[in-house]
Amino acid sequence: MSNHYFDVAIETALEAGQILREEYERPPDIAYKGDVDLVTQADKRSERAIVRKLSKYFPEHTISAEEGLGHQRSEEFRWHVDPLDGTTNFAHKYPCFSVSIALAQNGSVLAGVVYNPISNELFAAALGEGARLNGKRISVSQVSTLSTSLLCTGFPVHKRRASNNIHYYYDFTLRSHGVRRDGSAALDLASVACGRFDGFWEFGLNAWDTAAGVLLVREAGGSVSDFDGNPYALGGPVVLATNARIHEEMRHAALSISQRDPSAPLESLC
Ligand code: IPD
Ligand code: CA
Ligand code: CA
Repeated sequence: MSNHYFDVAIETALEAGQILREEYERPPDIAYKGDVDLVTQADKRSERAIVRKLSKYFPEHTISAEEGLGHQRSEEFRWHVDPLDGTTNFAHKYPCFSVSIALAQNGSVLAGVVYNPISNELFAAALGEGARLNGKRISVSQVSTLSTSLLCTGFPVHKRRASNNIHYYYDFTLRSHGVRRDGSAALDLASVACGRFDGFWEFGLNAWDTAAGVLLVREAGGSVSDFDGNPYALGGPVVLATNARIHEEMRHAALSISQRDPSAPLESLC
C-alpha cells in the first residue's frame, strides 16, 4: 500500500481532531436529524476540513461522508468518513468520541484511522502492516472464553423501537464480565483492536462507522464477520468483531439469542 494514503489519512484525522477539540470548548450548537439523532457545528466543520484535504490530495477519489459533503468520482477508490463518531457524547461533554477515516479500494480497506482528540489516542492500520496506537503496535486480547470477556455494543439513533438489541445486551451481560455502551462505534472497534474489549457487536452501522475500525481489528489479529460467519461487508446489517478466540462462542450465542422468544425466561439459556 502506498504510504501516502496512510500518511494523508493520519494528517487529516489530526486536523479534524483539532477542530473537534476547539468546538468541545464552546457551548454546544445542536440540531436534530431525527428524534435523538444529533448533529452539531463540530460534525460539519470537521467534515468540511476532511473533504477539503482529501479532495486536494486525491481529486479522483470518491468520498462517502456522513454529513453529505462528499462526492462521487472513482469507482475504485472510496474514502469512508465519519467526521465525529459519538456526536451524542460530544454534545453532552462526555469525552468519548472520534474521527474515523478509511480508504477502500474496490471495497477492500487499505488504510484506517480512528482518532480520539481528547485522550489524544490515534489508532491507525494499513492493510498487511498491522495496527498501531500512537505509533506502537497493538494486538487483540488473549481472553479465550465468553464468560471471562468484556464486551461492548451500541444502539441506533433512529428507528430505536425497531431494534432488538436490548435482548442481546441483556443476554450477553449475563454470559460475560459485562457489556459496555461507550457511544462511538469506531472507538469500540479500536478498543477491541488494542485488547480493552474482547468483543463488539452492533446492528445497522454505516460503512463510515466501521471501515477504519474493522481494519484495525483484523490487523490486530481479530476476527470480523456477521452472525452467520460470513466476512463482514462494509455497511452490512450486523457486525461482530472479536479477539478471534471468543468469536465462534459469541457468534453461536448471538444466533441462539436471535432464535429465542424475547418473553421466555433467560435463565433457561445460561
Ligand atoms: C453513532 C455511534 C454510536 C452507535 C450509533 C452511531 P454518530 O454514530 O457510533 O456508538 O451506537 O449507532 O450512529 O451518529 O455519533 O456518528
Ligand atoms: Ca457514526
Ligand atoms: Ca457522525
